[in-house]
Amino acid sequence: LEQFTREDALRREGYRHACHIMLYGDSSAKLFGKIPIKHIVLMQMRFDGLLGFPGGLVNPSKETLEAGLSRELHEEVGVAVPVGVDNHVSSCLSPSCPQLITHFYIKKMTEAELREIERAAVAAATDHGLEVLGMVRVPLYFLKNGGGLPYFLSHSFISNSRAQLLSALQRCRLLSQGELEKAVRQAEQMRR
Ligand code: GTP
Ligand code: MN
Ligand code: MN
Ligand code: MN
Ligand code: MN
Ligand code: MN
Repeated sequence: LEQFTREDALRREGYRHACHIMLYGDSSAKLFGKIPIKHIVLMQMRFDGLLGFPGGLVNPSKETLEAGLSRELHEEVGVAVPVGVDNHVSSCLSPSCPQLITHFYIKKMTEAELREIERAAVAAATDHGLEVLGMVRVPLYFLKNGGGLPYFLSHSFISNSRAQLLSALQRCRLLSQGELEKAVRQAEQMRR
């Protein structure tokens, strides 16, 4: 996929822009009282049945990419989470939509902030039950028979959001390289 810097992407004419974000943080919670969940990583079930990140189309002639992303977060998760240029990680041509550049952001938050977003996504977000069917946490652990991250990765994702998830998990060191490869390999076996 062709990659751009944020500035290069904005200089191109005739392209539409979409911004999405991975909100994540640390957690000391344990599944079944024994399996550390380690991190909270938020994605969403979209209206079309695909998994993706919160965010959406932004019009750079009317708002900055980051202000547009905060606006989308207000609509989709009920909190206008502040986003800055320092949260930007990549921009590339969309593999699924012609003339669309997708920008990806990552923001680390506290467990309390992430829990508040999960509450607001149901209680306050105007898109709840419409464009967004629910926020979901990504399981980062491995259970028997592919349970956990491998099964999660075997679902269907919008555009290149699955690749964005994997590269973000690597970049933020939420999983080791070996764990990521194992999850991808096990997910691949399930799809057969
Ligand atoms: P409307 O308000 O209905 O226009 O939707 P939106 O502004 O929320 O747009 P949406 O989030 O659907 O994103 C716009 C386009 O970006 C989609 O049609 C997809 O092609 C793409 N897209 C959606 N989610 C993701 C994502 O998580 N990652 C990437 N890379 N692309 C995405
Ligand atoms: Mn939206
Ligand atoms: Mn959206
Ligand atoms: Mn929108
Ligand atoms: Mn909308
Ligand atoms: Mn949409």
